[in-house]
Amino acid sequence: MSLIKIENVFKIYGDEGCENEVRALDGVSLEIDYGEFVAIIGSSGSGKSTMMNMLGCLDVPTRGEYYLDGIPIRERTERELSDIRSRRIGFIFQGYNLIPSLTVWQNVALPMTYQKVNPGDRYQRAIEALEKVDIASKAENRPTQLSGGQQQRVAIARAIATKSPIIMADEPTGALDSKTGVQVLGILRQLNEEGTTIILITHDNGIAAQAKRVIRVQDGRIISDSAPGDDPFIMSQTKKEVASAVGDGTTPSGALRVENGRAAWAGARAGGLTQ
Ligand SMILES: Nc1ncnc2c1ncn2[C@@H]1O[C@H](COP(=O)(O)OP(=O)(O)OP(=O)(O)O)[C@@H](O)[C@H]1O
Ligand SMILES: [Mg+2]
Repeated sequence: MSLIKIENVFKIYGDEGCENEVRALDGVSLEIDYGEFVAIIGSSGSGKSTMMNMLGCLDVPTRGEYYLDGIPIRERTERELSDIRSRRIGFIFQGYNLIPSLTVWQNVALPMTYQKVNPGDRYQRAIEALEKVDIASKAENRPTQLSGGQQQRVAIARAIATKSPIIMADEPTGALDSKTGVQVLGILRQLNEEGTTIILITHDNGIAAQAKRVIRVQDGRIISDSAPGDDPFIMSQTKKEVASAVGDGTTPSGALRVENGRAAWAGARAGGLTQ
């Protein structure tokens, strides 16, 4: 049994068949297994966030079936969906979704309240997660006092702290410089090696190349589903990046290389930002 199975899923905004119809998902079928590290890649408006909202039980399809861990999602009440989410999924949202009136550590601890984690343990777990992304020094600050990249890291800590078997991340490196982005990917890879299923949304071929499976979406449809080494866009970009990394003399040779058919940055496997 797959962890995730969606069958012919549609998400239609506006009025179907009318001029204002938007097929954000247009007949998508997909299976994701336990322990996978999947990148969902596509251009802006292709349906990536809609897909994550669907996979994350934050939204329900207009049509089609979704099974999470064998549980049919379509017939669930909002309360049941919320329960499924809080026990199984850690989210990193595209817009961070931090609550401005709470401190950084309280933001990180918030999903743990839904998980009914013992109140005495929440602070410690929040701090540990913040340490993993090197932002524990801001634990008592408010999100508005942080830079975009720092807020992004708090959002990542919030997902890590849930210790969920699945992490869904929508553009988790979008607001980060490339070095911090590589480190964040390193954290996701480490979580994956420890058994967490990772679903990573990106529009960046270099990021997708770090996953084990790349699903490419366009106009609400899956147009390819392969290992990064077999994805034609990634391979052509990889060749260009390697050529420029080795050729322009500004990047140390060896910082970027091709490994098992995909671009690999030295340090991408490092455990945390502090390493
Ligand atoms: N609530 C909504 N009402 C109407 N249309 C919507 C709504 N949400 C999304 N859409 C449309 O659905 C399509 C897919 O949107 P989605 O947010 O999934 O794209 P995306 O791939 O995540 O893009 P980006 O890379 O810019 O985040 C877009 O055409 C968008 O305008
Ligand atoms: Mg999006």
